[in-house]
Amino acid sequence: MDYDALPQLQEEGLARIAAAADLAELHDAEADLVGRSSVLADLQKRLGTLAPQERPGAGQRLNSTRRALTEALSERRRALEQAARAAELEADRLDLTEIPYRPRRGHLHLVTQTQERLEDLFVGMGYTVAEGPEAETDWHNFQALNLPVAHPARSSQDTLYLEWGEPETVLLRTQTSPVQIRVMQAQPPPIYSVMPGRVYRKDTPDARHNPTFSQIEGLVVDRGITFGDLAGTIDTFTRAYFGPDISSRLRPAYFPFTEPSAEFEVTCVLCRGAGCRTCSSTGWIELGGCGMVHPNVLATCGIDPEEWSGFAFGFGIDRQAQMRHAIADMRVLLDNDIRFVGQF
Ligand code: DAH
Repeated sequence: MDYDALPQLQEEGLARIAAAADLAELHDAEADLVGRSSVLADLQKRLGTLAPQERPGAGQRLNSTRRALTEALSERRRALEQAARAAELEADRLDLTEIPYRPRRGHLHLVTQTQERLEDLFVGMGYTVAEGPEAETDWHNFQALNLPVAHPARSSQDTLYLEWGEPETVLLRTQTSPVQIRVMQAQPPPIYSVMPGRVYRKDTPDARHNPTFSQIEGLVVDRGITFGDLAGTIDTFTRAYFGPDISSRLRPAYFPFTEPSAEFEVTCVLCRGAGCRTCSSTGWIELGGCGMVHPNVLATCGIDPEEWSGFAFGFGIDRQAQMRHAIADMRVLLDNDIRFVGQF
């Protein structure tokens, strides 16, 4: 090989360096191009055999090729090292979007879900939603609802009184009906409202009772409202909530704040009316009370019973959830056992 071949050697060398796919290939290229047994080293050794006047020129050309090759080698090495490092990092990367542990998402309690579904249903029928306090006065909870002090029907609602003011003047509301009073006092008719909320009774917990549960109350006051409107509203709501094959019926009952009063029953949702243990083989389940708002109650709230009439109804929300999901024991609704509440 002779010094005239240096440009070609350089060109081929640079091409090989550029083509080295990894550090190992580059290492081999380096040995072949500038290593101890390379052509370049051989030419270097032969410099001494040249005629003295040729040596400087040949030496310069040799050096320039060597420099070009070593620069290209170190540049390529840097690029390959960087790529190797990036590949290493990529392989070591922790994908934090795939953590095996995911915290479980919470959701509303079954009773709250049931309450919201009932609210939605009535809102869809044009009702507003109203709320009242859970610590209520005896006047709102009983007297204004046509239950004067010493009225025998009071004893049916085992009241928890609070030590506040005069004895037995403030209590934990036993029903949502006092919110009717608050709504009627707050606004003139026409009124179309539902009033959901928690109520309290001095009850020992058992499979069918909790000392606290939720009710939803309905109140309509307008001109010319009749018992037919009440029956139609209950039936519309029943079918919308439980399904078209579930109907309702009214049976005479007594409530001091309505006259006439009724209990409303719906087709047993468990046996679809065929008769089962839950409905005592009647095919019907009692859901709540209702009736035409008593004229005394309207008058107490400053509404003229000659001009306006209305109906009201009230029923337990927990009981609805119990029926819908065939819950054997009501106490699980208050236990907050995640195995139960997580099912809904
Ligand atoms: N407040 C009654 C109860 O807790 C239920 C009820 C009956 C509400 C008749 C009403 C009604 O609005 O008209 O047992």
